[in-house]
Amino acid sequence: MIIAVDGPAAAGKGTLARRLAGTFGLPYLDTGLLYRAVGRRVLDAGADPRDVPAALAAARALQPADFTRADLRGPVADMAATAVAAIGDVRAELLEFQRRFGREHGAVLDGRDIGTVVFPTAEAKLFVTASAEERARRRHAELLARGITADYAQVLSEVRDRDAQDENRPVAPLRPAADAMLLDTTHLDAQAAFTAAMTLLNTKLSSDSI
Ligand code: CDP
Repeated sequence: MIIAVDGPAAAGKGTLARRLAGTFGLPYLDTGLLYRAVGRRVLDAGADPRDVPAALAAARALQPADFTRADLRGPVADMAATAVAAIGDVRAELLEFQRRFGREHGAVLDGRDIGTVVFPTAEAKLFVTASAEERARRRHAELLARGITADYAQVLSEVRDRDAQDENRPVAPLRPAADAMLLDTTHLDAQAAFTAAMTLLNTKLSSDSI
């Protein structure tokens, strides 16, 4: 079984997807990490994350150790990930890895295009959203908890900027699949979001098995 969890920046997809994976006994893949690792490699090489040959070379050179680096989060890593993710050749390079991961034992995958491109035939698709202000509030709190000084207005503007880039890119733009179930978590904490997601999933999976 494949469960796709897509949505905009800092919507709480990771927390939710990880918990769903535990509940359904499925492996979990945070696909944002792939783009973050590519962006970080491009920065290390001193190149611009919008540079197509540099980003493609970085995607081809990815190693497992790239995903456990401590510097994959924070504003610079966020922007680099979003920039390399707009490059079609980079996305194509990462596609097979994601499909192979899901095909082996089933999986919960979170990202932007899981339900539309990576697994369009997924058994269940969630599109998780929240208002930009609430998402920025959560990301801001996350940064502070990690000891990173951040300005709320700046975080909000970066969240909006990354959403716009993800929504407007020509390849695999961020949008809900036609058959995705929408989950707005603006007024839900992590526990309530999990409960709401389980209700949606159980309804969908039981109606499919009738
Ligand atoms: O944690 P956050 O929601 O801020 O970001 P993420 O899920 O780690 O993704 C980082 C960036 O990678 C996003 O802004 C997207 O541009 C890109 N991404 C993508 O294009 N497709 C995916 N399946 C996952 C991430």
